[in-house]
Amino acid sequence: MLALFDSGKDDAALLAALHKTSFPDPWDAAAIEKLLAAPGGFAFFTGHGFVLARVAGGEAEILTLAVTPEARGQGLGRALLAAAAGHASEKGAENIFLEVGADNPAALALYAGLGFARVGQRKAYYQGKDALVLKAGLPLSLTGDFA
Ligand SMILES: CC(C)(COP(=O)(O)OP(=O)(O)OC[C@H]1O[C@@H](n2cnc3c(N)ncnc32)[C@H](O)[C@@H]1OP(=O)(O)O)[C@@H](O)C(=O)NCCC(=O)NCCS
Repeated sequence: MLALFDSGKDDAALLAALHKTSFPDPWDAAAIEKLLAAPGGFAFFTGHGFVLARVAGGEAEILTLAVTPEARGQGLGRALLAAAAGHASEKGAENIFLEVGADNPAALALYAGLGFARVGQRKAYYQGKDALVLKAGLPLSLTGDFA
């Protein structure tokens, strides 16, 4: 069951703890709280992962996505992303964007499977490594049992 968060300090602390499990340079609760409280900011959460996103001006952006290492490979990342895209679409977004390290094959495969396509490249963006900007039209064309 995915919970929708769109504000709240307690929520931010939970999300920061999850973020720490998945990134070498984790965001703290204050940073996450600020993003959640900003206009259009929202997150979907389970005990093992979350997605943080925002909707503005007919577009949505995935800000971060994390699944704890022990819970990976079971469809949770895809379910979180699908939930965020669905919510953004309900809020009026027509396209969704995200940025991903060019050296992150798990995330790239996840995004490709949901119909994201590359629309940009940021050279030497993450600690000297390239980042790709991906885009998908909303609603996503979902197939499979998470739809
Ligand atoms: C990327 C991440 C969110 C994927 O979460 P997950 O719950 O393991 O992903 P899912 O189980 O939903 O997998 C969905 C699809 O992603 C792809 N995928 C997931 N893990 C993969 C891996 N290790 N290698 C290759 N493809 C992978 C597959 O296409 C998979 O579909 P399939 O199971 O039908 O083959 C997770 O690995 C993670 O938190 N990584 C660290 C943080 C990160 O990189 N976040 C994204 C930053 S842009």
